[in-house]
Amino acid sequence: MIVAKNLTKKFGEFLAVDHLNLAVRKGEIYGFLGPNGAGKTTTIKMLTGVLKPTEGSVEILGMDLRTHELEIKRRIGVVPEEPRLYPHLTGQEFLEFIIDLYDLDRHEATKRVVELCEAFKVDFLGKRIGEFSHGMKQKLILVSVFMRKPEVIFLDEPTVGLDAKSAKILKLLLRKYASEGTIIFMTTHILEIAEKMCDRIGIINKGRLIAEGTMDELRTLAKDERATLEDLFLQLTAEGEDIEEIIKEL
Ligand SMILES: Nc1ncnc2c1ncn2[C@@H]1O[C@H](COP(=O)(O)OP(=O)(O)O)[C@@H](O)[C@H]1O
Ligand SMILES: [Mg+2]
Repeated sequence: MIVAKNLTKKFGEFLAVDHLNLAVRKGEIYGFLGPNGAGKTTTIKMLTGVLKPTEGSVEILGMDLRTHELEIKRRIGVVPEEPRLYPHLTGQEFLEFIIDLYDLDRHEATKRVVELCEAFKVDFLGKRIGEFSHGMKQKLILVSVFMRKPEVIFLDEPTVGLDAKSAKILKLLLRKYASEGTIIFMTTHILEIAEKMCDRIGIINKGRLIAEGTMDELRTLAKDERATLEDLFLQLTAEGEDIEEIIKEL
């Protein structure tokens, strides 16, 4: 449902994402985990058509992103790391703009907005976005994406800026959407988030996918059933010879 083949991005000579291959299935929450600068945001930008890959291809819902960009964009939702929003619009005006842009059923969408705003404690739609904090912008984007009920949702570090309760609500909502068949791809640099929220986890370091699997599979890779993902993550992303050993076995 999301397929990346040899996805690569070079900024000049710098290889930010290096021949990445991954596949995310229907109804799955896929966690893309890695330290800062690993290439997560660059990857999500290529997967969502924001950034052109240097090499490789992306397929979403069975369509090639190069030839079906508009149709794909209509059916996916993206929650970026740094939402770029129009500062002069109010939250309400922004949601109405999205309803028009995607030609949504106004009645349906409005009903969902009310429910979502209640869940995320959004009571500031009358304010101008320029006055929003990062967390408020994050919540507005979440509402604008979820009201559309997209078939695939990409989220880049979605819990950064959210308070604990909103983060919990986000987690429950994503689980519910996944159980209804939505495909969810999220990045995080926080291990516990990947561990708690995701069905399958890919670990990226220095642009390369260095491990992938369910928590159980990753534990097996760590050769210790009691190992936490943190142990494995540190083993895999640390500098040193033992890393080479692990990578050889993957
Ligand atoms: N537009 C750009 N030009 C040059 N280098 C970039 C650009 N965007 C990202 N990078 C570099 O690519 C690497 C991966 O960045 P990014 O994908 O944002 O990492 P992450 O989201 O995992 O923290 C970093 O070293 C970053 O400095
Ligand atoms: Mg990032």
